Amino acid sequence: MTLISSHTKPVAFLDLAALHAPLRSRLDVVWEQTMADSAFIGGPAITAFEQRWAQYCGTDHCIGVANGTDALELVLAALGIGPGDEVLVPANTFVATAEAVVTVGATPVFVDVDPGSLLITAREIAAAITPQTRAVMVVHLYGQIAEMDNIKAVTDAAGIHVVEDAAQAHGATYKGRRAGSFGVAATFSFYPGKNLGALGDGGAIVTDDPALTEEIRSLSNHGRGHHLLHTHRGRNSRLDGLQAAALDVKLDHLDAWNNRRRNAHALYIDRLTTSVETLTTLPDSRPVHHLEVIRVDDRDRVRDGLAEAGIQTGIHYAMPCHKHPAFAEFDLRPLPVAESAATRQLSLPMHPTLTTDEINTVADTVLELL
Ligand SMILES: Cc1ncc(COP(=O)(O)O)c(C=O)c1O
Repeated sequence: MTLISSHTKPVAFLDLAALHAPLRSRLDVVWEQTMADSAFIGGPAITAFEQRWAQYCGTDHCIGVANGTDALELVLAALGIGPGDEVLVPANTFVATAEAVVTVGATPVFVDVDPGSLLITAREIAAAITPQTRAVMVVHLYGQIAEMDNIKAVTDAAGIHVVEDAAQAHGATYKGRRAGSFGVAATFSFYPGKNLGALGDGGAIVTDDPALTEEIRSLSNHGRGHHLLHTHRGRNSRLDGLQAAALDVKLDHLDAWNNRRRNAHALYIDRLTTSVETLTTLPDSRPVHHLEVIRVDDRDRVRDGLAEAGIQTGIHYAMPCHKHPAFAEFDLRPLPVAESAATRQLSLPMHPTLTTDEINTVADTVLELL
């Protein structure tokens, strides 16, 4: 049976070449400037970007680091979280969130997620808190901020830290405040495919806390107190000058790109929501649609059908964190929502240069396949 219409054109999951093409001349200029200054580690491009990113997020400080995973680990280490401490982690997230907890020697306690948004909830957090709980990793997955008021009510009452993993939520807002401004600190990844992506790896931490900022800066720079004195056992995790310069150029376009993602999402919803399970948008949350996730039965057949029609898709995520062999020792109780979502979720093409025709092609093909 030939199921797919013959008119179907290939649709890319992500198109970085198209995103970067109009920026090439500006990227070349700042790249040349960084080369001329030889400011590869530290220097004016880093300071300028850190200041702009803190301001954009509505926080006082930003520390550029090597990637989003290091950012998570450095925050936990700077908070003094380690062996004997428990950190709550949503089961439906990228493994990096759990990895950071394990790397500092703490115990990840996996919690289930909301069936509509697939995000961590105040209710699940409240049920998992023990006297050993020190922090919760609030992951704003898929570009949507979790229910922060309810979460903060629970975490404030329990006296535990909120660390925002905002790797997928650059520019998302909740009650008008941007991702990064809710926790004791928040982390970002600038992996190239993120809403704000570098031309390689990169990451950042934002916070209002000056002492935490100093601690993280030191830990990420070999534990330096000053140049010749190492006061902590640190490590090397730095954002480099070339990446900061590129990020600064791209930041000018972030809001426009996020709006294009919002328009693309609105069209997907318009076409699909009556026939397919789409993610719900939480009250007061204004997402930036890093990923366009639907849930379908027989996901692998639908994915294969889309691939046959030249439509690239992804799966975020095929297994909840606690089911990966790497975290098997922490798999203590069933988490039915995350476990069921893992078998049914499918990420459709989503990026700022996606066209209306492409979205219609994807939607037509999904509907045909169902
Ligand atoms: C939710 C989440 N957390 C953390 C990370 C880790 O970021 P990085 O790849 O920059 O280390 C990612 C990146 O994929 C992510 O999506």
